[in-house]
Amino acid sequence: MAAQIISGTEISKQIREELTKEIEDLKQQHNITPGLATILVGDDPGSKVYVGQKEKACNKLGIYSERTDLPADTTEADLLALVAKFNEDSKINGILVQLPLPKHIDDTRVIDAIAPDKDVDCFHPVNVGKLVIGTGRFLPCTPHGIMELLKRSGIVTDGKHAVVVGRSNIVGKPIANLMLQRSPGGNATVTLCHTGTKDLSAYTKQADILIVAVGHPKAITADMVKEGVVVIDVGVNRIGKTEEGRPILAGDVDFDSVKEKASAITPVPGGVGPMTITMLMKNTVESAKMAAGL
Ligand code: GUN
Repeated sequence: MAAQIISGTEISKQIREELTKEIEDLKQQHNITPGLATILVGDDPGSKVYVGQKEKACNKLGIYSERTDLPADTTEADLLALVAKFNEDSKINGILVQLPLPKHIDDTRVIDAIAPDKDVDCFHPVNVGKLVIGTGRFLPCTPHGIMELLKRSGIVTDGKHAVVVGRSNIVGKPIANLMLQRSPGGNATVTLCHTGTKDLSAYTKQADILIVAVGHPKAITADMVKEGVVVIDVGVNRIGKTEEGRPILAGDVDFDSVKEKASAITPVPGGVGPMTITMLMKNTVESAKMAAGL
């Protein structure tokens, strides 16, 4: 049976339509315009593209956006002062400091300085703690996007074995926590694999739902999965360039072979990728509602 292709492009479009309507209502009924501040330090080309995409998404949806580009030699003290300024700015509901930061700046200190109510990435320890307990109002963008992909594709998670490969703070750890919450869309039995896991395929072969975020192209091959598995591929790896100089992308999963065994699978590009920015927009709207007591 051909695998269902889970389109993040389509699902993201649906959610953006819902958000556009919600933002219009907030403006008309409550005089609220959600606002996002993005901060980019240095000139990493990939980070520039991501911040540009976030700014563009704000403009399209009607979210106020304020972008600050700082030179690579910005001091940690200056960056902390800028975060403190946005913490106090009532036009700003979300603060996003694009990671990674230059080596002389401590990521942790910067994340800790963001007001938890404006931490739309959900990286602040207060929000990470709430996520683990299950009381958070923000969810981290990529894991939240994965939950929406599963839910809106009709994938049942209750009682299933979800195997997560990769233990990053941005994807692996939070998605493992979300999948095991008792709430709808979770309630799975979760196994979290990582670079210390011996015999990885012994675990991946048991997965009903396999979520892969390792940052290596085609790390998961067809012999490592069982028939009928649902596969969520978070990886975006540049594996070459087209003749026109555009990057050729591959996921962490060998899509062509794994799709022959899977019941459902996300493509790369067009799978998890488009969801991340959409969920950032959703968190910014949520933060604006929270600030207004809604
Ligand atoms: N760098 C890569 N992904 C992310 C993300 O989701 N948020 C931020 N702030 N930086 C990133």
